[in-house]
Amino acid sequence: MKKKNKPIWESRIKGNTSNTFQKVSSSIDIDKRLFKEDIAASIAHVEMLNRQKIINFKIKNKIVWGLKKIQNQIIKKKYIFDFKDEDIHMSIEKKLFEIIGDDAGFIHTARSRNDQVLVDLKIWMTNSNDKLIKMLNQTIKSILLIAEKNIYTVMPGFTHLKNAQPISFAHYLLAYVEMFERDKKRFETNLNSLSENPLGSAALSGTSFNIDRNFTTKKLGFKKATGNSIDTVSDRDFVLEFLFTSSVCAMHISRLAEEFIIWNSDAFKLITLNDKVVTGSSIMPQKKNPDTLEYLRGKVGQSYGNLFSMMTILKGLPLSYFKDLQDDKKFVFETFDTIVNSLKVLNEVLKNFSVNKNEMLKLAKKGHIAATDLADYLVKNLNYPFRKSYQITAKIVNYCEKNKKNLSDLSLKELKKIEPSLKDDVIDVFDLNKSINSKRSYGGTSFENIKKMIKKYKNA
Ligand code: ARG
Repeated sequence: MKKKNKPIWESRIKGNTSNTFQKVSSSIDIDKRLFKEDIAASIAHVEMLNRQKIINFKIKNKIVWGLKKIQNQIIKKKYIFDFKDEDIHMSIEKKLFEIIGDDAGFIHTARSRNDQVLVDLKIWMTNSNDKLIKMLNQTIKSILLIAEKNIYTVMPGFTHLKNAQPISFAHYLLAYVEMFERDKKRFETNLNSLSENPLGSAALSGTSFNIDRNFTTKKLGFKKATGNSIDTVSDRDFVLEFLFTSSVCAMHISRLAEEFIIWNSDAFKLITLNDKVVTGSSIMPQKKNPDTLEYLRGKVGQSYGNLFSMMTILKGLPLSYFKDLQDDKKFVFETFDTIVNSLKVLNEVLKNFSVNKNEMLKLAKKGHIAATDLADYLVKNLNYPFRKSYQITAKIVNYCEKNKKNLSDLSLKELKKIEPSLKDDVIDVFDLNKSINSKRSYGGTSFENIKKMIKKYKNA
């Protein structure tokens, strides 16, 4: 084997590592994505080593020059990633030897791949978190636009998928704004653990070199250095936080997708997906299938899977670094890519569907949807306890069902047969718009509340 093909540990480990193992355990195809972060962190590291007089100025410059050359080669796709190099860190270090010679050997003073990989990943994840926050902002904006146009769109609110109470379609949409706002907050909170700099923890116990962790912390945009070197190289909580936050976000997307699938179905017809976001069938010429939504509904499975894989890997894992941890990056990258794609697809869907207002209203008129309003009316106007009002209303609904009528079809005479004290203004109760507008409790579906909420989120 030529010298340049030998691993860094060839002076210790004589035979070649099993080829089979090298192939399956190499992570370079995955972590090559961290090359920029790795190089930035290495530059900060050697600058610090030089300031602390651990390496001299000339060597520092040589290393920085070499690293920048490597970065260029990778960007220009003139760089070969060899699985035998195991990971991006070894690959770059080896290349540095090729470019600047033995002075490359100074780069790994006072650090280990154990802290190196973490600093790379944390920088990468900080940027990715920011990207997701921006995308969520975009999603929220798109939803608000639709909400604004549908403040007065009446639809049935469901519980158990049975018509429950009338709501404004905008109120329904604003529920998703709340969910995505929470997702955003979770991603923002996660930035805290990502803001602690692992560099300088070295393999697990810190280092005897007089390093300055505050320098690399500032230089790399972290807020502070991590507090315990053993915990630092063992900790993957920030990975779990990301995977959990992404899973919850993917779950929100999945719920919206499922609901839209139901509403777009021939049975409901509350919305219609435009041709841009449907696919055809290979055999049934008439079909327009909501595959985009099914993609969104299904993808949450991958996020959950990655979250559970990482939790399982960490369970019972002794401190500190173990190879088991290496898969963290695969999970993070995969989950990130999927959530980015999902948010993009979701935005497309949001721009490409129409609201079937008439169908919504038609459905809202079914299922005696104003029954709670009638019960509330009895409490307010006849001073009955709610339970008694509930029973009277149930009797009225039973009467409707028996006579194949809607609540709003009933005459005062019919109503009075069941509850003689009713007055003619009771008829107002069956007006769905009035019902909606009466829900003025904070967070309720009244048109006024909705307008205020839309304004609040638009100015947020
Ligand atoms: N590629 C490794 C990982 O991602 C880097 C750390 C390796 N450290 C080691 N002692 N083998 O986990």
